[in-house]
Amino acid sequence: MFITFEGIEGTGKSTQIALLQKHLEAQGRRVVVTCEPGGSRIGAELRRVLLSLENRDLTPQAELFLYLADRAQHVAQVVRPALASGAVVLSDRFADSTVAYQGYGRGMDLPLLHQLNAVAVAGLWPDLTLLLDLDPAAGLGRAVARNSREGKTSAEGRFEAESLAFHGRVRQGFLDLAAREPGRIRVLDASDTPESTALAVRAQVEAMLHA
Ligand code: TMP
Repeated sequence: MFITFEGIEGTGKSTQIALLQKHLEAQGRRVVVTCEPGGSRIGAELRRVLLSLENRDLTPQAELFLYLADRAQHVAQVVRPALASGAVVLSDRFADSTVAYQGYGRGMDLPLLHQLNAVAVAGLWPDLTLLLDLDPAAGLGRAVARNSREGKTSAEGRFEAESLAFHGRVRQGFLDLAAREPGRIRVLDASDTPESTALAVRAQVEAMLHA
């Protein structure tokens, strides 16, 4: 089973992934946790290029192709082999992020992005996507505080430096995707405590596992 987590910055995706991993492992399942960008060895190099504040001059087109390259490598080298070995795979972001950020955020053509995503994933789509939804003002505040606490502001801050309006468009993009694919994408309120969001995450995953 392939489960992806999506949402704007600061919605608590990595906290929720860690809690779900623990929960599933306690049931005796093997879990592989991964992320985009950066889930593969080559992807880790692409992540540095993509997120560094040094690279403010990256063009939107170059940015798009780097995310797609990261995804193609991630699917082939990490996600597909893990699923084939019987693991549950939890990915922090996947193809929906390209539609939300490069499409709704940067204004690139949505049908074209769907086609390019299809090339990158080569038939491998998530079974379930959990969209952690949060007001951008709250999410960005959390993300900026986390980067500064972890000393990552200049290494990983390129998207945190975007405007609130940009993140508002990205959030709307995720919500539009969820409205188009309600069977796969479930919207969860991320303004709750991490514990109550975790209960909602578990309920969705259990329903999927026992469907
Ligand atoms: P994160 O892994 O810390 O969330 O950072 C990844 C950043 O990259 C985040 O700001 C969203 C952005 N992103 C895109 O713009 N397009 C994509 O396809 C993906 C996977 C991420």
